[in-house]
Amino acid sequence: MGGSLGEGVLSRAAEEGSVPRSGFRRVEGRLTCRGVELEELAAEFGTPLYVYDGEGIEEQVARFQAVFGEIPFLLAYSVKANGSLAILDRIAALGAGADIVSAGELERALRAGFPPEKIVFAGVGKTRAELIAGLRAGIRSFHVESAGELESLSRVAHEEGRAAPVGLRVNPDVESPTPHAYTRTGHAASKFGIPVEEAEALYRNRADDPNLDFRGIDVHIGSQIMEAEPYLRALHVVLGMVDRLAASGIRLEYLDLGGGFGVGYDGGAGLDLEALAREVIPPLAERGYELILEPGRTVVGEAGVLLTRVLYLKRSGIKTFVITDAGMTELIRPSHYEGFHRILPVRESAGAPRVIADVVGPICESGDFLARDREMPLPRPGDVLAVKTAGAYGFTMASNYNARPRPAEVLVEGAEAHLIRRRESVEDLMRGETIPPRRASGRAPKRPGSP
Ligand SMILES: Cc1ncc(COP(=O)(O)O)c(C=O)c1O
Repeated sequence: MGGSLGEGVLSRAAEEGSVPRSGFRRVEGRLTCRGVELEELAAEFGTPLYVYDGEGIEEQVARFQAVFGEIPFLLAYSVKANGSLAILDRIAALGAGADIVSAGELERALRAGFPPEKIVFAGVGKTRAELIAGLRAGIRSFHVESAGELESLSRVAHEEGRAAPVGLRVNPDVESPTPHAYTRTGHAASKFGIPVEEAEALYRNRADDPNLDFRGIDVHIGSQIMEAEPYLRALHVVLGMVDRLAASGIRLEYLDLGGGFGVGYDGGAGLDLEALAREVIPPLAERGYELILEPGRTVVGEAGVLLTRVLYLKRSGIKTFVITDAGMTELIRPSHYEGFHRILPVRESAGAPRVIADVVGPICESGDFLARDREMPLPRPGDVLAVKTAGAYGFTMASNYNARPRPAEVLVEGAEAHLIRRRESVEDLMRGETIPPRRASGRAPKRPGSP
Protein backbone atom coordinates (compact mmCIF):
# COMPACT_ATOMS: atom_id res chain seq x y z
CA MET A 1 0.00 0.00 0.00
CA GLY A 2 1.19 3.52 -0.56
CA GLY A 3 1.77 6.15 -3.18
CA SER A 4 3.90 9.15 -3.97
CA LEU A 5 2.82 12.71 -3.36
CA GLY A 6 2.94 14.85 -6.49
CA GLU A 7 2.55 18.62 -6.82
CA GLY A 8 -1.03 18.43 -8.08
CA VAL A 9 -1.85 16.10 -5.27
CA LEU A 10 -0.60 18.56 -2.69
CA SER A 11 -2.64 21.42 -4.10
CA ARG A 12 -5.73 19.20 -4.19
CA ALA A 13 -5.09 18.17 -0.61
CA ALA A 14 -4.78 21.82 0.34
CA GLU A 15 -8.07 22.49 -1.42
CA GLU A 16 -9.66 19.79 0.70
CA GLY A 17 -8.23 21.35 3.79
CA SER A 18 -6.13 18.33 4.64
CA VAL A 19 -2.85 20.26 4.71
CA PRO A 20 -1.14 20.69 7.08
CA ARG A 21 -3.29 19.46 9.95
CA SER A 22 -3.88 15.88 8.98
CA GLY A 23 -2.26 13.05 7.14
CA PHE A 24 -5.24 12.35 4.88
CA ARG A 25 -4.22 13.05 1.28
CA ARG A 26 -5.60 12.25 -2.14
CA VAL A 27 -3.01 10.43 -4.19
CA GLU A 28 -3.76 9.66 -7.83
CA GLY A 29 -7.47 10.06 -7.17
CA ARG A 30 -7.52 7.84 -4.07
CA LEU A 31 -7.68 8.97 -0.46
CA THR A 32 -4.85 7.79 1.73
CA CYS A 33 -3.74 8.18 5.31
CA ARG A 34 0.03 8.58 5.48
CA GLY A 35 0.41 6.45 2.40
CA VAL A 36 -2.11 3.80 3.42
CA GLU A 37 -5.06 3.54 1.04
CA LEU A 38 -8.39 4.01 2.75
CA GLU A 39 -10.15 1.79 0.23
CA GLU A 40 -7.85 -1.07 1.19
CA LEU A 41 -8.58 -0.50 4.87
CA ALA A 42 -12.30 -0.64 4.13
CA ALA A 43 -11.81 -3.92 2.25
CA GLU A 44 -9.61 -5.43 4.96
CA PHE A 45 -11.49 -4.36 8.08
CA GLY A 46 -14.99 -3.77 6.71
CA THR A 47 -17.23 -0.74 7.07
CA PRO A 48 -18.30 1.34 8.92
CA LEU A 49 -14.74 1.87 10.07
CA TYR A 50 -12.97 4.62 11.98
CA VAL A 51 -9.44 5.33 10.77
CA TYR A 52 -7.07 7.53 12.78
CA ASP A 53 -3.87 9.24 11.75
CA GLY A 54 -1.55 8.56 14.70
CA GLU A 55 1.06 11.07 13.62
CA GLY A 56 -1.63 13.71 13.20
CA ILE A 57 -2.72 13.24 16.80
CA GLU A 58 0.85 13.45 18.04
CA GLU A 59 1.44 16.59 16.01
CA GLN A 60 -1.54 18.29 17.62
CA VAL A 61 -0.36 17.45 21.14
CA ALA A 62 3.11 18.73 20.28
CA ARG A 63 1.57 21.88 18.79
CA PHE A 64 -0.26 22.73 22.02
CA GLN A 65 2.87 22.04 24.02
CA ALA A 66 4.94 24.30 21.75
CA VAL A 67 2.39 27.13 21.64
CA PHE A 68 1.61 27.27 25.37
CA GLY A 69 4.77 25.71 26.77
CA GLU A 70 6.42 29.06 27.46
CA ILE A 71 4.85 28.97 30.94
CA PRO A 72 4.18 25.95 33.16
CA PHE A 73 1.55 24.14 31.12
CA LEU A 74 -0.45 20.93 31.25
CA LEU A 75 -2.42 19.68 28.29
CA ALA A 76 -5.21 17.66 29.90
CA TYR A 77 -6.62 15.84 26.89
CA SER A 78 -10.39 15.54 27.11
CA VAL A 79 -10.95 11.79 27.07
CA LYS A 80 -14.61 12.12 26.07
CA ALA A 81 -13.56 13.19 22.58
CA ASN A 82 -11.96 9.82 21.87
CA GLY A 83 -11.20 7.42 24.68
CA SER A 84 -9.87 4.43 22.79
CA LEU A 85 -6.97 2.96 24.73
CA ALA A 86 -4.47 3.05 21.88
CA ILE A 87 -5.17 6.74 21.25
CA LEU A 88 -4.89 7.52 24.96
CA ASP A 89 -1.65 5.56 25.13
CA ARG A 90 -0.05 7.72 22.42
CA ILE A 91 -1.25 10.97 24.02
CA ALA A 92 -0.06 9.91 27.48
CA ALA A 93 3.33 8.97 26.05
CA LEU A 94 3.82 12.60 24.99
CA GLY A 95 3.61 13.78 28.60
CA ALA A 96 0.04 15.02 28.41
CA GLY A 97 -2.55 14.68 31.13
CA ALA A 98 -6.24 13.86 30.94
CA ASP A 99 -9.55 15.61 31.59
CA ILE A 100 -12.14 13.04 32.64
CA VAL A 101 -15.82 13.06 33.60
CA SER A 102 -16.51 9.60 35.00
CA ALA A 103 -15.00 6.67 36.85
CA GLY A 104 -15.01 4.84 33.53
CA GLU A 105 -12.85 7.53 31.92
CA LEU A 106 -10.62 7.49 35.01
CA GLU A 107 -10.05 3.77 34.57
CA ARG A 108 -9.34 4.21 30.86
CA ALA A 109 -6.91 7.04 31.50
CA LEU A 110 -5.04 5.12 34.20
CA ARG A 111 -4.88 1.98 32.09
CA ALA A 112 -3.49 3.95 29.18
CA GLY A 113 -0.70 5.25 31.40
CA PHE A 114 -1.69 8.82 32.29
CA PRO A 115 -0.05 9.62 35.63
CA PRO A 116 -2.82 10.32 38.18
CA GLU A 117 -1.19 13.62 39.09
CA LYS A 118 -1.98 14.79 35.54
CA ILE A 119 -5.68 13.90 35.65
CA VAL A 120 -8.42 16.45 36.33
CA PHE A 121 -11.99 15.32 36.98
CA ALA A 122 -14.95 17.49 35.87
CA GLY A 123 -18.68 16.74 35.64
CA VAL A 124 -21.82 18.03 37.36
CA GLY A 125 -22.94 14.70 38.78
CA LYS A 126 -20.00 12.81 40.23
CA THR A 127 -21.23 10.00 42.45
CA ARG A 128 -19.79 9.16 45.84
CA ALA A 129 -18.14 6.09 44.28
CA GLU A 130 -16.54 8.33 41.64
CA LEU A 131 -15.25 10.78 44.24
CA ILE A 132 -13.71 7.86 46.17
CA ALA A 133 -12.17 6.43 42.98
CA GLY A 134 -10.57 9.76 42.10
CA LEU A 135 -9.25 10.27 45.60
CA ARG A 136 -7.79 6.79 45.86
CA ALA A 137 -6.16 7.16 42.45
CA GLY A 138 -4.45 10.36 43.61
CA ILE A 139 -5.67 12.62 40.79
CA ARG A 140 -4.44 16.19 40.32
CA SER A 141 -7.76 17.89 41.02
CA PHE A 142 -11.51 17.53 41.19
CA HIS A 143 -13.24 20.21 39.19
CA VAL A 144 -16.18 20.67 41.49
CA GLU A 145 -19.38 22.01 39.94
CA SER A 146 -21.71 22.70 42.90
CA ALA A 147 -21.73 23.47 46.61
CA GLY A 148 -23.36 20.09 47.21
CA GLU A 149 -20.56 18.28 45.42
CA LEU A 150 -17.98 20.19 47.46
CA GLU A 151 -19.74 19.08 50.61
CA SER A 152 -19.77 15.43 49.49
CA LEU A 153 -16.13 15.61 48.49
CA SER A 154 -15.17 17.01 51.87
CA ARG A 155 -17.06 14.19 53.62
CA VAL A 156 -15.54 11.50 51.42
CA ALA A 157 -12.06 12.98 51.88
CA HIS A 158 -12.56 12.93 55.64
CA GLU A 159 -13.59 9.26 55.55
CA GLU A 160 -10.65 8.40 53.32
CA GLY A 161 -8.24 10.27 55.55
CA ARG A 162 -6.78 12.46 52.83
CA ALA A 163 -7.48 16.02 51.71
CA ALA A 164 -9.11 16.30 48.30
CA PRO A 165 -7.41 18.51 45.69
CA VAL A 166 -9.99 20.92 44.30
CA GLY A 167 -10.51 23.49 41.60
CA LEU A 168 -13.96 25.00 41.43
CA ARG A 169 -15.45 25.06 37.95
CA VAL A 170 -16.76 28.55 37.58
CA ASN A 171 -19.59 29.59 35.31
CA PRO A 172 -18.33 32.96 34.04
CA ASP A 173 -21.64 33.80 32.33
CA VAL A 174 -20.00 34.19 28.95
CA GLU A 175 -22.01 33.56 25.78
CA SER A 176 -19.84 31.53 23.48
CA PRO A 177 -20.68 31.54 19.78
CA THR A 178 -20.65 27.79 19.20
CA PRO A 179 -22.44 26.34 16.18
CA HIS A 180 -25.12 24.68 18.33
CA ALA A 181 -26.84 25.57 21.60
CA TYR A 182 -26.00 22.13 23.04
CA THR A 183 -22.28 22.90 23.00
CA ARG A 184 -22.51 26.17 24.97
CA THR A 185 -21.62 25.76 28.63
CA GLY A 186 -20.40 29.14 29.89
CA HIS A 187 -23.65 31.12 30.23
CA ALA A 188 -25.72 31.51 33.36
CA ALA A 189 -28.52 29.22 32.17
CA SER A 190 -26.15 26.29 31.65
CA LYS A 191 -26.03 23.46 34.19
CA PHE A 192 -22.24 23.65 34.24
CA GLY A 193 -20.07 25.43 36.76
CA ILE A 194 -20.77 27.56 39.82
CA PRO A 195 -21.75 31.23 39.50
CA VAL A 196 -18.82 33.56 40.16
CA GLU A 197 -20.06 35.06 43.43
CA GLU A 198 -20.99 31.73 44.90
CA ALA A 199 -17.68 30.16 43.84
CA GLU A 200 -15.74 32.99 45.38
CA ALA A 201 -17.68 32.59 48.63
CA LEU A 202 -16.99 28.83 48.61
CA TYR A 203 -13.24 29.38 48.24
CA ARG A 204 -13.31 31.79 51.18
CA ASN A 205 -15.69 29.88 53.44
CA ARG A 206 -14.08 26.50 52.90
CA ALA A 207 -10.45 27.65 52.84
CA ASP A 208 -9.91 26.23 56.33
CA ASP A 209 -11.63 22.90 55.67
CA PRO A 210 -8.83 20.39 56.37
CA ASN A 211 -10.46 17.94 53.94
CA LEU A 212 -10.21 20.30 50.97
CA ASP A 213 -7.04 21.50 49.31
CA PHE A 214 -7.85 24.32 46.88
CA ARG A 215 -5.41 24.06 44.01
CA GLY A 216 -6.91 25.87 41.07
CA ILE A 217 -9.86 27.25 39.18
CA ASP A 218 -11.54 25.92 36.07
CA VAL A 219 -13.77 27.23 33.28
CA HIS A 220 -15.01 25.54 30.15
CA ILE A 221 -17.27 27.75 28.09
CA GLY A 222 -18.22 25.47 25.21
CA SER A 223 -17.07 23.55 22.23
CA GLN A 224 -16.09 24.30 18.63
CA ILE A 225 -15.33 27.97 19.37
CA MET A 226 -13.54 29.67 16.49
CA GLU A 227 -12.44 32.93 18.10
CA ALA A 228 -10.18 33.85 20.98
CA GLU A 229 -12.51 36.55 22.24
CA PRO A 230 -14.94 34.45 24.38
CA TYR A 231 -11.94 32.79 26.06
CA LEU A 232 -10.53 36.21 26.87
CA ARG A 233 -13.82 37.26 28.45
CA ALA A 234 -13.79 34.11 30.59
CA LEU A 235 -10.13 34.68 31.43
CA HIS A 236 -10.94 38.21 32.52
CA VAL A 237 -13.59 36.92 34.93
CA VAL A 238 -11.32 34.24 36.33
CA LEU A 239 -8.33 36.58 36.73
CA GLY A 240 -10.54 38.99 38.67
CA MET A 241 -11.49 36.14 40.98
CA VAL A 242 -8.00 34.80 41.57
CA ASP A 243 -6.67 38.30 42.18
CA ARG A 244 -9.33 38.98 44.81
CA LEU A 245 -8.73 35.58 46.39
CA ALA A 246 -4.94 36.09 46.40
CA ALA A 247 -5.43 39.48 48.04
CA SER A 248 -7.25 37.74 50.86
CA GLY A 249 -4.54 35.10 51.23
CA ILE A 250 -6.03 32.29 49.11
CA ARG A 251 -3.41 31.48 46.55
CA LEU A 252 -4.11 28.92 43.82
CA GLU A 253 -1.63 27.02 41.62
CA TYR A 254 -3.34 26.82 38.26
CA LEU A 255 -5.92 28.32 35.94
CA ASP A 256 -7.72 25.84 33.69
CA LEU A 257 -9.32 27.48 30.67
CA GLY A 258 -11.03 24.30 29.48
CA GLY A 259 -11.20 23.07 25.91
CA GLY A 260 -13.47 23.73 22.97
CA PHE A 261 -10.94 25.13 20.49
CA GLY A 262 -12.61 24.93 17.10
CA VAL A 263 -11.42 22.78 14.23
CA GLY A 264 -11.98 23.24 10.48
CA TYR A 265 -14.93 20.98 9.75
CA ASP A 266 -15.38 22.86 6.48
CA GLY A 267 -11.75 22.30 5.47
CA GLY A 268 -10.61 25.73 6.65
CA ALA A 269 -8.41 26.58 9.59
CA GLY A 270 -9.53 26.06 13.17
CA LEU A 271 -9.18 28.50 16.06
CA ASP A 272 -5.90 30.41 15.94
CA LEU A 273 -4.12 28.91 18.96
CA GLU A 274 -1.09 31.17 18.54
CA ALA A 275 -3.28 34.28 18.75
CA LEU A 276 -4.98 32.89 21.84
CA ALA A 277 -1.63 32.10 23.46
CA ARG A 278 -0.42 35.66 22.86
CA GLU A 279 -3.29 36.94 25.02
CA VAL A 280 -3.43 34.21 27.63
CA ILE A 281 0.22 33.69 28.48
CA PRO A 282 1.27 37.19 29.69
CA PRO A 283 -1.28 37.60 32.52
CA LEU A 284 -0.57 34.09 33.78
CA ALA A 285 3.19 34.53 33.52
CA GLU A 286 2.94 37.82 35.40
CA ARG A 287 0.99 36.19 38.25
CA GLY A 288 2.93 32.91 38.23
CA TYR A 289 0.04 30.53 37.55
CA GLU A 290 0.27 27.24 35.72
CA LEU A 291 -2.02 26.97 32.70
CA ILE A 292 -4.15 23.88 32.09
CA LEU A 293 -6.07 23.40 28.85
CA GLU A 294 -8.50 20.57 28.11
CA PRO A 295 -8.69 20.20 24.34
CA GLY A 296 -10.39 17.12 22.95
CA ARG A 297 -11.64 17.86 19.46
CA THR A 298 -8.55 19.83 18.47
CA VAL A 299 -6.30 16.89 19.30
CA VAL A 300 -8.18 14.09 17.55
CA GLY A 301 -10.92 15.65 15.37
CA GLU A 302 -9.05 16.15 12.14
CA ALA A 303 -7.04 12.98 12.66
CA GLY A 304 -10.02 10.69 12.14
CA VAL A 305 -12.31 9.68 9.29
CA LEU A 306 -15.32 7.42 9.24
CA LEU A 307 -15.38 5.12 6.24
CA THR A 308 -18.79 4.02 5.08
CA ARG A 309 -19.95 2.04 2.07
CA VAL A 310 -22.83 3.12 -0.13
CA LEU A 311 -25.58 0.50 0.00
CA TYR A 312 -28.25 1.97 -2.25
CA LEU A 313 -29.30 5.07 -4.12
CA LYS A 314 -32.89 6.14 -3.98
CA ARG A 315 -34.84 8.94 -5.55
CA SER A 316 -38.06 9.89 -3.88
CA GLY A 317 -40.05 12.95 -4.81
CA ILE A 318 -37.61 15.81 -5.04
CA LYS A 319 -34.86 14.11 -3.03
CA THR A 320 -31.89 11.95 -3.88
CA PHE A 321 -30.81 9.69 -1.05
CA VAL A 322 -27.41 8.09 -0.77
CA ILE A 323 -27.97 5.26 1.70
CA THR A 324 -24.82 4.26 3.53
CA ASP A 325 -23.96 1.55 6.03
CA ALA A 326 -23.11 4.21 8.67
CA GLY A 327 -25.55 6.58 10.26
CA MET A 328 -26.36 8.23 13.54
CA THR A 329 -25.32 5.14 15.50
CA GLU A 330 -21.75 5.55 14.26
CA LEU A 331 -21.63 9.36 14.05
CA ILE A 332 -24.38 11.24 15.85
CA ARG A 333 -22.97 14.75 15.41
CA PRO A 334 -24.95 15.66 12.26
CA SER A 335 -28.20 14.55 13.86
CA HIS A 336 -27.60 15.71 17.44
CA TYR A 337 -25.70 18.97 16.89
CA GLU A 338 -26.47 19.65 13.23
CA GLY A 339 -22.74 19.08 12.86
CA PHE A 340 -21.24 19.47 9.40
CA HIS A 341 -18.76 16.91 8.08
CA ARG A 342 -17.28 16.88 4.61
CA ILE A 343 -18.00 13.62 2.81
CA LEU A 344 -15.56 12.62 0.08
CA PRO A 345 -15.40 9.66 -2.26
CA VAL A 346 -12.45 7.49 -1.30
CA ARG A 347 -11.87 6.82 -5.00
CA GLU A 348 -12.58 9.66 -7.40
CA SER A 349 -14.63 8.77 -10.39
CA ALA A 350 -14.02 11.14 -13.28
CA GLY A 351 -17.44 11.12 -14.93
CA ALA A 352 -19.67 11.11 -11.85
CA PRO A 353 -22.48 13.65 -12.19
CA ARG A 354 -22.80 16.15 -9.36
CA VAL A 355 -26.04 15.93 -7.41
CA ILE A 356 -27.62 17.38 -4.33
CA ALA A 357 -28.32 14.50 -2.01
CA ASP A 358 -29.06 13.50 1.55
CA VAL A 359 -26.53 11.00 2.85
CA VAL A 360 -28.51 8.82 5.22
CA GLY A 361 -27.90 5.73 7.31
CA PRO A 362 -29.94 2.56 7.78
CA ILE A 363 -31.33 3.48 11.19
CA CYS A 364 -35.08 3.75 11.64
CA GLU A 365 -35.16 7.44 12.48
CA SER A 366 -35.88 10.40 10.23
CA GLY A 367 -33.11 12.18 12.09
CA ASP A 368 -30.62 9.59 10.87
CA PHE A 369 -28.39 11.35 8.39
CA LEU A 370 -24.75 12.21 7.83
CA ALA A 371 -25.46 15.15 5.51
CA ARG A 372 -28.48 16.92 4.10
CA ASP A 373 -28.83 18.66 0.76
CA ARG A 374 -25.18 18.09 0.09
CA GLU A 375 -23.71 18.78 -3.33
CA MET A 376 -21.51 15.82 -4.16
CA PRO A 377 -20.45 13.54 -7.01
CA LEU A 378 -23.11 10.85 -7.26
CA PRO A 379 -21.56 7.69 -5.85
CA ARG A 380 -22.48 4.16 -6.91
CA PRO A 381 -23.57 1.36 -4.61
CA GLY A 382 -20.42 -0.30 -3.28
CA ASP A 383 -18.38 2.91 -3.30
CA VAL A 384 -16.64 3.89 -0.08
CA LEU A 385 -17.09 7.42 1.29
CA ALA A 386 -14.89 9.13 3.87
CA VAL A 387 -16.67 11.29 6.43
CA LYS A 388 -13.95 13.75 7.37
CA THR A 389 -12.96 15.26 10.72
CA ALA A 390 -14.69 12.45 12.59
CA GLY A 391 -11.96 11.63 15.12
CA ALA A 392 -13.69 13.46 17.98
CA TYR A 393 -17.11 12.58 19.39
CA GLY A 394 -17.46 9.90 16.74
CA PHE A 395 -16.79 6.53 18.25
CA THR A 396 -17.27 7.77 21.83
CA MET A 397 -20.85 8.78 21.03
CA ALA A 398 -21.60 5.66 18.98
CA SER A 399 -24.54 3.58 20.15
CA ASN A 400 -26.06 0.16 19.70
CA TYR A 401 -29.49 1.51 18.75
CA ASN A 402 -31.31 -0.79 16.33
CA ALA A 403 -29.05 -3.57 17.72
CA ARG A 404 -26.16 -2.34 15.63
CA PRO A 405 -22.69 -3.46 16.69
CA ARG A 406 -20.30 -0.52 17.02
CA PRO A 407 -17.66 -0.17 14.29
CA ALA A 408 -14.02 -1.21 14.32
CA GLU A 409 -11.20 1.31 14.75
CA VAL A 410 -7.84 1.37 12.98
CA LEU A 411 -4.80 3.44 13.89
CA VAL A 412 -2.36 4.25 11.09
CA GLU A 413 1.22 4.81 12.19
CA GLY A 414 4.40 4.66 10.19
CA ALA A 415 2.39 3.64 7.11
CA GLU A 416 1.06 0.61 8.98
CA ALA A 417 -2.52 -0.01 9.96
CA HIS A 418 -3.28 -1.44 13.40
CA LEU A 419 -6.69 -2.69 14.40
CA ILE A 420 -7.14 -1.01 17.79
CA ARG A 421 -10.71 -2.13 18.40
CA ARG A 422 -12.42 -5.03 16.71
CA ARG A 423 -15.90 -4.57 15.39
CA GLU A 424 -18.51 -5.52 17.97
CA SER A 425 -20.47 -8.68 17.31
CA VAL A 426 -24.17 -9.19 17.84
CA GLU A 427 -23.12 -11.58 20.61
CA ASP A 428 -21.34 -8.65 22.34
CA LEU A 429 -24.61 -6.75 22.34
CA MET A 430 -26.41 -9.44 24.32
CA ARG A 431 -23.62 -9.94 26.85
CA GLY A 432 -24.93 -9.33 30.34
CA GLU A 433 -28.58 -9.93 29.52
CA THR A 434 -30.60 -12.66 31.21
CA ILE A 435 -34.07 -14.00 30.59
CA PRO A 436 -35.82 -14.99 33.86
CA PRO A 437 -37.75 -18.28 33.76
CA ARG A 438 -41.28 -17.82 32.47
CA ARG A 439 -44.09 -18.21 34.92
CA ALA A 440 -45.97 -21.51 34.67
CA SER A 441 -48.85 -20.13 32.64
CA GLY A 442 -46.40 -18.45 30.32
CA ARG A 443 -48.45 -15.27 30.25
CA ALA A 444 -49.29 -12.55 32.72
CA PRO A 445 -52.70 -12.83 34.41
CA LYS A 446 -55.25 -10.31 33.19
CA ARG A 447 -55.69 -7.31 35.41
CA PRO A 448 -59.29 -6.35 36.07
CA GLY A 449 -60.39 -3.87 33.46
CA SER A 450 -57.59 -4.69 31.02
CA PRO A 451 -58.74 -5.76 27.56
C1 LIG B 1 -15.12 20.21 30.92
C2 LIG B 1 -14.75 19.98 29.50
N1 LIG B 1 -13.46 20.14 29.15
C3 LIG B 1 -13.07 19.94 27.88
C4 LIG B 1 -13.95 19.56 26.89
C5 LIG B 1 -13.43 19.31 25.50
O1 LIG B 1 -14.02 20.08 24.53
P1 LIG B 1 -13.45 20.00 23.04
O2 LIG B 1 -13.41 18.55 22.66
O3 LIG B 1 -14.40 20.76 22.22
O4 LIG B 1 -12.07 20.57 23.08
C6 LIG B 1 -15.31 19.39 27.21
C7 LIG B 1 -16.27 19.02 26.18
O5 LIG B 1 -17.43 18.84 26.35
C8 LIG B 1 -15.70 19.59 28.56
O6 LIG B 1 -16.98 19.43 28.93
